[in-house]
Amino acid sequence: MGVKIAVIGGANVDMVAAAPRLPKPGETVIGTNFTIACGGKGANQAVAAARLGASVSFIGRVGDDMFGEMLERSLCEAGVDTTFLKRDSSSHTGVAQIYVAQGGENCIIVVLGANGRVSAQDVEGAEERIRCSDCLVLQLEVPEEAVTKALEIANRCGVRVVFNSAPAQDFALRLLSMCDVVTLNESEAMQMTGFAIGDLNDAMKAAIALREMGTKAVVLTIGEQGAIIADENDVEHIPAFKVNSIDATAAGDAFTAALAVKLCEGASLREAVLFANAAGALATTKLGAQPSLPYRSEVEGLISGAQR
Ligand code: RIB
Repeated sequence: MGVKIAVIGGANVDMVAAAPRLPKPGETVIGTNFTIACGGKGANQAVAAARLGASVSFIGRVGDDMFGEMLERSLCEAGVDTTFLKRDSSSHTGVAQIYVAQGGENCIIVVLGANGRVSAQDVEGAEERIRCSDCLVLQLEVPEEAVTKALEIANRCGVRVVFNSAPAQDFALRLLSMCDVVTLNESEAMQMTGFAIGDLNDAMKAAIALREMGTKAVVLTIGEQGAIIADENDVEHIPAFKVNSIDATAAGDAFTAALAVKLCEGASLREAVLFANAAGALATTKLGAQPSLPYRSEVEGLISGAQR
């Protein structure tokens, strides 16, 4: 059995439209491809960690509808334990509208639905599961009170916390000191620090500034350039793996999950980021969120191929 990971977060059904480029406000662009896929940052991270060999529990809510069923099935097929996934008849399942441009860049609107009803009580109900986990993984597609409660439980029980500060939310700053590792992308880092990030040097400064806000380590993903680690010892750039990217959706989720799995297996932060860079890169090579999340053998294959 692999390392034990509890994931609290959002589950969405994604409507994905690919086009040569993203539309400007007020513009209509003719697309090239459309797919409906399971997504949501929390559910993606749970599925990704399971495909990488972890034993995963997911805590969240979906609606009592067709999309909720689809998401539950996808989690179960990946081997994720859904004991703490509630079917909520007072709201609809979360949905995301995703536009993907040629080359993989995307933009997303999420309508939270049932994700917005995940409560501190839901998290308390899963306290024992969190306590017995090697790591708690969370993001910000569920309410602040649920995230805070989960962090309180993890901190009290000495459970490692990997926090993906996405999507950007003002309250995230208050949570940093309760986390062991914070992952985020450039746009989230810009919103949290107020820094403009134009190059590698700016990204390093933003990572250092975020770490100084109170967390032990920050891992800032910088797309095709890889990731930056800032911890109490150092700041370091770990380059990306070269792949043919067609859709960046869920690359950050694959990255966060891989980082959490590898850290729990005893790797150093640097080794874990290398593994996570490979998982993130592979997730960009297919359209859609959960369909693109790689299996362990694929991640290890990419790493050993690059070392040869
Ligand atoms: O991180 C990618 C995810 O963000 C998508 O699957 C979408 O549902 C949104 O939550």
